Amino acid sequence: MKVLITGGNGFLGKELRMQFQKNNYDVIATGLGKDRISYHNHIYLELDIQSPSKCLEVLQKHQPSIIINAAALTDVDRCQLNQSECLSINCDSLNNFIPYSIENRIHFIQISTDFVFNGKKGEYKENDFCDPVNYYGFSKLEAENKIIKSGVDYAIIRTSLLYNLTGNNFLTRFIKKIKENVELKIVDDQYRTPTYIFDLVSAILIIVKLKKNGIYHISSGESLSIFDIVCNFVKNMDSNTSLIKNISTKDLSQKAIRPINSSLLIDKAKKDFNFTPMNLNDVINRFL
Ligand SMILES: NC(=O)c1ccc[n+]([C@@H]2O[C@H](COP(=O)([O-])OP(=O)(O)OC[C@H]3O[C@@H](n4cnc5c(N)ncnc54)[C@H](OP(=O)(O)O)[C@@H]3O)[C@@H](O)[C@H]2O)c1
Repeated sequence: MKVLITGGNGFLGKELRMQFQKNNYDVIATGLGKDRISYHNHIYLELDIQSPSKCLEVLQKHQPSIIINAAALTDVDRCQLNQSECLSINCDSLNNFIPYSIENRIHFIQISTDFVFNGKKGEYKENDFCDPVNYYGFSKLEAENKIIKSGVDYAIIRTSLLYNLTGNNFLTRFIKKIKENVELKIVDDQYRTPTYIFDLVSAILIIVKLKKNGIYHISSGESLSIFDIVCNFVKNMDSNTSLIKNISTKDLSQKAIRPINSSLLIDKAKKDFNFTPMNLNDVINRFL
């Protein structure tokens, strides 16, 4: 089976490429600029998903039966300041994939976010009301709606605060600073359900294999403050937690508003395909 992965140089895209390759899929990875994985045995192509002609050329040449759209503008503050760029990449670019996918009966997998919710309630189910508080969330919700309305065979996977113990992600960036003795100010009143990247990739593999449709929430299901997430890791690495200071959202001047509690419930994935993710302590105990 041929799978085309967009955003192949991103944090998630790179992991998807390697795990789909390992599971014997015929992988066509695409991304901005040069390939940022050194060793693999699949095709990599430079592709800006905003280019209609380039996208069509790649689709016609490689004829995938599955597309996983992991490309996005993910810097939430940049999205707030550059709204037309954000909408173009995160939503309008779908016009370059959806009609072809409908015509060719492609299973279209869209990676979405907990930021489609306003964060007032927390513990969101798939069919809860969406009401994004920033432009990034708005663009991702517009994308979801475009996909749903189109009639394409889709799965929309909403995830939250992805992490790994290596590579460039929010956690490793914080840990690097602590090791350099830099004091960190971390919000203690924003709650997320952190997601170990391998659990997300495993869920995507299952959703593809079982040809699942509809919206799925994929996270650990464990709601924690961002402050507690970082402290937990730093403590377990025998590093200095005194360098981590808690700060409240109102004292952090961010360009884009963040949802206070965007935690995702994962009961649907548990019921539909026995999704059993690791929580933070499982990951710490097993891998640190
Ligand atoms: N990370 C999280 O905590 C999180 C949480 C919820 C949802 N998500 C969703 O998960 C998906 C993957 O996110 P990620 O964490 O892997 O983010 P990422 O590391 O920023 O990856 C996104 C990739 O998309 C690429 N991209 C940007 N504009 C593009 C364009 N015009 N054409 C082609 N590629 C383009 C970026 O290229 P460059 O590398 O060159 O910039 C980047 O490699 C996104 O849909 C995101 O909304 C992520």
